[in-house]
Amino acid sequence: VPAVGTSTVKRGFWSSRMAFILAATGSAVGLGNIWKFPYITGENGGGAFVLVYLLCIAIIGIPIMMAEVLIGRRGGHSPINSMRTLARNAKLTPRWVWLAGMGVFASFVILSFYSVIGGWATSYVLTAASGQLSGQSADAIGAMFSGLLGDPVRLLIWHSLFMGLTMLVVARGLRGGLERSVTILMPALFILLLIMVGYASTTGHFGEAARFLFQPDFSRLTTQGVLIALGHAFFTLSLGIGVMMAYGSYLQQDISIARTSVTVSVLDTVVALLAGMAIFPIVFANGLEPGSGPGLIFQTLPLAFAQMPWGSVFGTVFFVLLVFAAWTSAISLLEPIVEWLEELDGMNRVTSTLLAGGLCWLLGIASILSLNAWSGFTPLAMFPLFEGKTIFDLLDYLTANVLLPLGGLTVAVFAGWFLKRAMLEEELALPQPWFGLWYSVLRYISPVAVAIVFVYNLV
Ligand code: PFF
Ligand code: NA
Repeated sequence: VPAVGTSTVKRGFWSSRMAFILAATGSAVGLGNIWKFPYITGENGGGAFVLVYLLCIAIIGIPIMMAEVLIGRRGGHSPINSMRTLARNAKLTPRWVWLAGMGVFASFVILSFYSVIGGWATSYVLTAASGQLSGQSADAIGAMFSGLLGDPVRLLIWHSLFMGLTMLVVARGLRGGLERSVTILMPALFILLLIMVGYASTTGHFGEAARFLFQPDFSRLTTQGVLIALGHAFFTLSLGIGVMMAYGSYLQQDISIARTSVTVSVLDTVVALLAGMAIFPIVFANGLEPGSGPGLIFQTLPLAFAQMPWGSVFGTVFFVLLVFAAWTSAISLLEPIVEWLEELDGMNRVTSTLLAGGLCWLLGIASILSLNAWSGFTPLAMFPLFEGKTIFDLLDYLTANVLLPLGGLTVAVFAGWFLKRAMLEEELALPQPWFGLWYSVLRYISPVAVAIVFVYNLV
């Protein structure tokens, strides 16, 4: 067991509130917003699902993000050592550290398939840049995508490239430089999404898409849909895993945890909703199926790039920015695993990166094969909840909808019920009634809501 505070990482402070927001936004905004949110919204019937997702962000996500950042700043170390310090200071059992251990495990599993999807996005940089998209029909674009999924060797090459780039940054500790580039690339992504929304509004199906996304039809919402909305709130905000704890440990004392958490959550949500408004008009204009699954953005946006003026240029820039957004998220997943290995074993950074990244890469191969050779292999099909789910589907489903909410629930209980109220008040420095509101939501509403959704899905 490592002693407290033996982290080999030099601890400094974020130069400003802005730097924390950039890093946290870099982790939050990623494939979850642009790839996952639109397709799970399509699969779960639209409006009612979106409403539940937004509620989960507001009453579960934001309070838990505040708790994570608070634990990180108060603990001042990596998630494991922060939990250890706070548990010891509050005279609690060191078993609370297992929470952070579970986070490391979840990061590992998520990164394995996240990198495969990051690989798809990377391959589309080349597809767009080479002009292959221009003038293509919906069918041709669909066939291109199926061709990619059906080819394990190509998938492996792109997965390896994406994982390699992620490992490179983590091994060399380049995060600082990368985060500075977020200042340019995030606003650029935002502007490009606005352009895509602008293009989508010329398809004549904008109203239909807006109704699909924002007009709740509760008859289309299932119990499982509620769990998926909840799980996605955790996934998209990078919660329940220790990432925000790790980033919080660098946050200066005089900066408001509440304001920064709200800012990051709002930015993340806006990007997801813009992605939805860019994609669904194209879906309806071309008679595509909203519930067609993980390929949704790779079959819709390329269609826009095929038709719009300067489509190859916009397409290339868009996929470059998407890869960048995915990259900053992937780095935030790999960092904690590497830091944990360093602390555990005194292993150096390069060796720990090679080990952690190499294992993620290896597990990623199972996700790649799920898309082709093993597409009929559904190991947990005997449970109705997991019917038809491949290994890739299961890794995604179980991390987002089980591990992350469970991690978040534990954080809420730890901060809300076991840490001293006076300490929480001091850290948050919120005026009344805001502190009281946060405290009650964290103690009663967030954990109970997560528990109810869990129980309903198991029964
Ligand atoms: N929040 C990222 C996204 O929306 O793409 C994914 C993610 C990153 C999840 C880091 C969890 C995490 F710890
Ligand atoms: Na996100």
